[in-house]
Amino acid sequence: MSGHYAEISGLHVYYGNIHALRGIDMYADKGEIVSVVGVNGAGKSTLMWTLAGVLPYKGSIKFDGLPLPARPHETVARGVSLVPERRRLFTAMSVRENLIMGAIRRNDRDEIERDMERCFALYPVLKERLSQRSGTLSGGEQQMLAISRALMSRPRALLLDEPSLGLAPKVTEALFDTISQIRGDGVTVLMVEQNAYETMNVSDRCYVLQAGTIAMSGNSSEIMKDPRVRKAYLGD
Ligand SMILES: Nc1ncnc2c1ncn2[C@@H]1O[C@H](COP(=O)(O)OP(=O)(O)OP(=O)(O)O)[C@@H](O)[C@H]1O
Ligand SMILES: [Mg+2]
Repeated sequence: MSGHYAEISGLHVYYGNIHALRGIDMYADKGEIVSVVGVNGAGKSTLMWTLAGVLPYKGSIKFDGLPLPARPHETVARGVSLVPERRRLFTAMSVRENLIMGAIRRNDRDEIERDMERCFALYPVLKERLSQRSGTLSGGEQQMLAISRALMSRPRALLLDEPSLGLAPKVTEALFDTISQIRGDGVTVLMVEQNAYETMNVSDRCYVLQAGTIAMSGNSSEIMKDPRVRKAYLGD
């Protein structure tokens, strides 16, 4: 298991006595959409916050050949950007201000404006709402903004924590289409979701996370056919 763009091996994460991630092995190749499906409490957000450099861990996380430190500023500088669960926008700030915050570590003004236009090409509604306070956007619009804010740091890897949370099926479908477009621009995507069906549809490969361990992994199309997955996640 070596030579992958992103590689996680023997990953353990603890909250005091709680052993939240219990020896995770995963990888992602450049330009892949990799998903992690799991129920409440499986450890999905723990995995995301760990990869974003926020939580200390045991084991190894390598990105583009180098270890990824448990320091959020450095992971962003290395090109890893997290869209956290429930968006966590700066709700009192406007759409535009949120986008600017995403580019806070950059000083290439013209390029920042250009990247903003790219976000508007992906999510035209944001351009119409530039000065609207982000807390007053609809759930779907907030998710579009949260993803756009993450894109403003020019990530090479985008981490999405339950992007479909609280969204109607139609909105989710449209949003997942844009995730494919983002991958088309060369960004590697790792997304965690409870919404198993849509997620497996959009991802190349899938891991099933259960109580802090990987219970199953493989091509999403194969995983979707597995009777255990169909029973547990797809309502069969
Ligand atoms: N700050 C914390 N302190 C102690 N335990 C925590 C903390 N955060 C999470 N946990 C525990 O770690 C486990 C994994 O939680 P996590 O939030 O990663 O799950 P999740 O898969 O994202 O769940 P959900 O689908 O509800 O978002 C849970 O048992 C949770 O109670
Ligand atoms: Mg979570």
